[in-house]
Amino acid sequence: MDLILRNARLPDGRNGIDIGLRDGRIAAVEPRLAATSLEEIDVSGRLVTPPFVDAHFHLDSALSYGLPRVNQSGTLLEGIALWGELKPLLTMDAIVERALHYCDLAVSQGLLAIRSHVDVCDDRLLAVEALLHVRQQVAPYLDLQLVAFPQDGLYRSATAEKNLLRALDLGVDVVGGIPHFERTMADGARSVTRLCEIAAERGLRVDLHCDESDDPMSRHIETLAAETLRLGLHGRVAGSHLTSMHSMDNYYVSKLLPLIAESGVAAIANPLINITLQGRHDAYPKRRGMTRVPELLAAGVNVGFGHDCVMDPWYAFGSGDMLEVAHMAVHVAQMTSQTAIRQCFDAVTTNSAKILGLDGYGIAPGCHADLVVLQARDPFEAIRLRANRLLVIRRGRIIARNAPRSPQLALPGRPSGFPD
Ligand code: FE2
Repeated sequence: MDLILRNARLPDGRNGIDIGLRDGRIAAVEPRLAATSLEEIDVSGRLVTPPFVDAHFHLDSALSYGLPRVNQSGTLLEGIALWGELKPLLTMDAIVERALHYCDLAVSQGLLAIRSHVDVCDDRLLAVEALLHVRQQVAPYLDLQLVAFPQDGLYRSATAEKNLLRALDLGVDVVGGIPHFERTMADGARSVTRLCEIAAERGLRVDLHCDESDDPMSRHIETLAAETLRLGLHGRVAGSHLTSMHSMDNYYVSKLLPLIAESGVAAIANPLINITLQGRHDAYPKRRGMTRVPELLAAGVNVGFGHDCVMDPWYAFGSGDMLEVAHMAVHVAQMTSQTAIRQCFDAVTTNSAKILGLDGYGIAPGCHADLVVLQARDPFEAIRLRANRLLVIRRGRIIARNAPRSPQLALPGRPSGFPD
């Protein structure tokens, strides 16, 4: 072994576990490993987890808050308009610099995989070129997956389809879209079909911004599920946001949930952004707007969470901390049972890893030696405290280290969670 982490607690509740790392992989996960390693670290019963995974992000706009001005209304639509004002002013160097800065912040917090949408509605494809460069730069320590995202609409923008195909030719990984932003519902549905066909032809994954609206009649998720079934894209498709589901008729949802489950389409909620952007047209009561996370999970749908935005035209806050995302989800969806809290932890780790199709993810022999040691004893405490990342390990090497925080409010001598 190159390194043994001793006395770890795992997210599934196993305790007193040793994890042996060799040649960048996990070699053993057992209660007591023989002392053969060059280095050993006693983690003293702290939670050791596979890295955090952000299933939905925008790295091309991250950290641009205030450029060229601030979003006054706080709406999605002003955010899109504001981004449209900023786009012509962007430079390659500025995008790369901000993106690399964010990646450093992410890695220091154990966020080692990000799916980022990249806007292709700029004939220069400047952001695409910049983020392809960044993907290569950060590859040793972070898996960056890029989605070709026609922000201004596949059909609403005259050159979007051509640019999307160019971006895929250049090596962008996933097909994106925004059906609710097309001019009509019919155009939106048509865009879903076209985008799924492009993905089927090229053997790619699909991740659409889908129904990011409070309009209960925004039902593009239905088309996305149906097209996924028709084209045999099972397991390769995700619907991001799905906020209209919050407002949909309950009878319709009782038909929709089994369809989504049957199609294998995954759902990606963005709790920080959904609670901020949705419900803006409401008087009181104001809708929360996040999609129906517990119900999707109960129907057997894989649900991941995304950070979506950090300091950009849509959201002034954010810190690259996926535990902050999970923390907001617990509150917005009222997922406060022990089981539900654990599900929120899975949504920023294993569920999102599955959506990205990450190879060798997890804590088992043969997996990549990518691990995070948290200053917490279980997923509940990790979310409650937005726990300190004591160690971040990538391919067996410690790449970030933080000193323990003190004091921490914890229940001494036992896991923080109570049984359901
Ligand atoms: Fe987004």
